[in-house]
Amino acid sequence: MRTSILTQLLLCAVLTAYSQAFTLRSWDDAYALANTAVGQMTLDEKIGIVTGTGQLNANRRCVGDTTPIPRLGIPSFCFNDGPAGMRLTKGVTGFPSGINTASTFSKRLMRARGKAMGEEFRGKGVHVFLGPAMDIMRNPKAGRAWESFGPDPYLTGEASFETITGVQSVGVQACAKHLIANNQEHWRYGLSANVDERTLREVYWAPFERSVEAGVASVMCAYNRLNGTSSCHQAGLLGPNGMLRKAGFKGYVVSDWGATHDSASDNANAGLDMEQPGDNIVIGGGVFGGNLKNAVNNGSVSVSRLNEMVARVLAPWYRLGQDSGYPAVNFDAQKPDGSGPRNEGVVVRSAAHTALVREIAAASSVLLKNNRTATGGGAGAGAGMTVRGLPIALERIKSVAIVGQDAKMPNKACGDLNECNDGTMSIGWGSGSNSLEFIVPPVDAITSFVGTGAIITSSLSNDLDAGVNAARGKDVAFVFANAMSGELGFYDIVVGNQGDRNDLDLWWKGGSLIERVAAVCNNTIVVIHSVGPVYMPWSVHPNITGIIYAGAPGEQTGPGLVDVLSGKVNPSGRLPFSIADNEAAYGTQIVYNSLGFPEIPYTEKLNLDYRYMDAQGVTPRFEFGFGLSYTTFAYSALSTSASGTSRVVKFTVTNTGAIAGTEIAQVYLGYPTAAGEPKRVLRGFEEIVLAAGVSASVSITLGERDMSVWDTPRQAWVRPAGTFSVFVGASIKDVRLTGSF
Ligand SMILES: *[C@@H]1O[C@H](CO)[C@@H](O)[C@H](O)[C@H]1NC(C)=O
Ligand SMILES: *[C@@H]1O[C@H](CO)[C@@H](O)[C@H](O)[C@H]1NC(C)=O
Ligand SMILES: *[C@@H]1O[C@H](CO)[C@@H](O)[C@H](O)[C@H]1NC(C)=O
Ligand SMILES: *[C@@H]1O[C@H](CO)[C@@H](O)[C@H](O)[C@H]1NC(C)=O
Ligand SMILES: *[C@@H]1O[C@H](CO)[C@@H](O)[C@H](O)[C@H]1NC(C)=O
Repeated sequence: MRTSILTQLLLCAVLTAYSQAFTLRSWDDAYALANTAVGQMTLDEKIGIVTGTGQLNANRRCVGDTTPIPRLGIPSFCFNDGPAGMRLTKGVTGFPSGINTASTFSKRLMRARGKAMGEEFRGKGVHVFLGPAMDIMRNPKAGRAWESFGPDPYLTGEASFETITGVQSVGVQACAKHLIANNQEHWRYGLSANVDERTLREVYWAPFERSVEAGVASVMCAYNRLNGTSSCHQAGLLGPNGMLRKAGFKGYVVSDWGATHDSASDNANAGLDMEQPGDNIVIGGGVFGGNLKNAVNNGSVSVSRLNEMVARVLAPWYRLGQDSGYPAVNFDAQKPDGSGPRNEGVVVRSAAHTALVREIAAASSVLLKNNRTATGGGAGAGAGMTVRGLPIALERIKSVAIVGQDAKMPNKACGDLNECNDGTMSIGWGSGSNSLEFIVPPVDAITSFVGTGAIITSSLSNDLDAGVNAARGKDVAFVFANAMSGELGFYDIVVGNQGDRNDLDLWWKGGSLIERVAAVCNNTIVVIHSVGPVYMPWSVHPNITGIIYAGAPGEQTGPGLVDVLSGKVNPSGRLPFSIADNEAAYGTQIVYNSLGFPEIPYTEKLNLDYRYMDAQGVTPRFEFGFGLSYTTFAYSALSTSASGTSRVVKFTVTNTGAIAGTEIAQVYLGYPTAAGEPKRVLRGFEEIVLAAGVSASVSITLGERDMSVWDTPRQAWVRPAGTFSVFVGASIKDVRLTGSF
């Protein structure tokens, strides 16, 4: 049934209104209800709760479903992608990627995005949001790294915490993924990440510990092995004495789709609570279902363990109030075009979500270079003056060029995994991709911004000569270039890239396009859309007066960019990784070629990205935490004081420029030398909104664990004795204040 637009809007309003109201139960109350339900179930019903209904099942509505028990009022639980918004349906928002969310360094926006996504999943009847992705960007070419929050474990942990809190605040279950060390696409179905325990705990596990603190409903075990054992039957991670349960995790562990191997008892007894999608999908799977039933019948899995699995799956459903008044599933993931009788056309987009996505797109744009100059001004408000750089002085601009295929509308017909890159890149490909239904490309947004005041010449391909012809002698030339990556799978290879990027170059000769345009236009503004670091050897070119690293900003990519170009938004995005000139600066590699599943030793240990560069004395082109503003900020008055087992770091930030702006103040900690930590590690950040000339006092609390290291022999977080240094500033390199305690 197709509903009218008006009905859709009303439905949307109603859903949004009652999505606010649910009663959060305590875990104890939720478990009491869950255990009562388990007591009323047959063996087959229990198996049906912990096993997906099957990838090939014609009744499947979502990416993953379970078998309902109508007599107990338990529906089929609906699991759906993805971490940047609903996939496989219409009428939804294409949210910014995880890596752009990290780029905002704004807990406020991280949480607001989570809540807005939760509202859309709820409105579609999805019980479980398959996110956030929390995989550390161990190597910048890692195919899915854009789904997550970058190479820094602290930033990843905070972004995960806020996302989960936001999603679950509207009664939708979040699913922290992928446990653990899921860091490249090549060979992911069986590679072994061989990680020493301290590194595992401090880098790859720390964000999961934060997700447990957020009360996350579920955790997804990964395809890869850890130290030789499959993540989904690794008792050290999932078992009663494993890391998750010891951290206080109360929800359930669900397998990544087809990540289960070996026997039902191997997995169930190691701590796996649910298998998805339920059947064998070539790469693995088909371990529970009938096999689990046999294993229970012959005693290799105990009834009490099965009961525990079922109770863990039910408890978050009760805890988040999904047992009462939750919308029924109203879409059909098997018909992503919205056709068929099971797609009810419910629209969950809203003006508020569109505005939020635009705000995040702007707040995640990183201004890397700005050589704003005004020359030739005469009398009276700069009459006859030319203004180069950013923001664009539209009143002085008579001719504009827009160059590069990355400025134009992408091909929306290339499949629900978005496996192509022939227009603007707003999100990577694979199961973490999202809806392009309502995307607004940069060319459209710039065209409406420029209006009739200037003549626009565009060349929306990467043809070098055509780009040069369009840009020659123009008052300003916007040149767009991109790089993309995505998920491996049964999916295609996209322009020769099998999930992980092949290199750190811009695609489609984007670097040459930029250099050629800069040779003929002395006010070239470069816009990069990318899933992660790219080489920028041209960044010092004198005719390149502005560079915006816009990442993968989601559907409001054009309007969000124009907000920054125009000065409506003063940029405050910061790099959540470093941009270096060669891959060796990162100290890690993707293993592309192997005879069978490789063993990958994590020999770099704690030293990823800026930590490795610090240790090696490498100066990146643009460092972690870096980003310019249209105003300037000063830091002063650092003090640190004890507060129980915490330390409070206090300082003052002043907007010393002429316009309002937002500073992202960062706190890095230096451990006592004997602790064996990297030179400096991020341990706090704050978004500070300041009118011109105004100061604010900022206080950031370092908790006990923020000052601890993982002590493997003691199996505990331990705060080392000695003197700690505190570095406060605007990036890892731009330290403005130093203290110690
Ligand atoms: C992985 O194996 C290595 C070598 O045996 C060991 O040192 C390390 O602690 C193991 N990692 C974990 C997380 O147990
Ligand atoms: C119990 O059943 C499982 C699943 O069919 C099987 O893998 C296992 O070998 C059986 N164990 C025994 C002791 O019969
Ligand atoms: C251009 O801007 C960069 C930073 O944005 C600055 O480092 C550089 O000195 C500027 N160059 C000129 C010529 O103003
Ligand atoms: C930039 O180029 C324009 C047009 O080609 C020219 O009028 C202007 O003087 C140049 N400005 C600088 C600073 O080179
Ligand atoms: C900068 O642009 C001007 C055209 O405005 C061009 O003549 C000049 O050669 C360019 N500079 C460089 C270094 O390419």
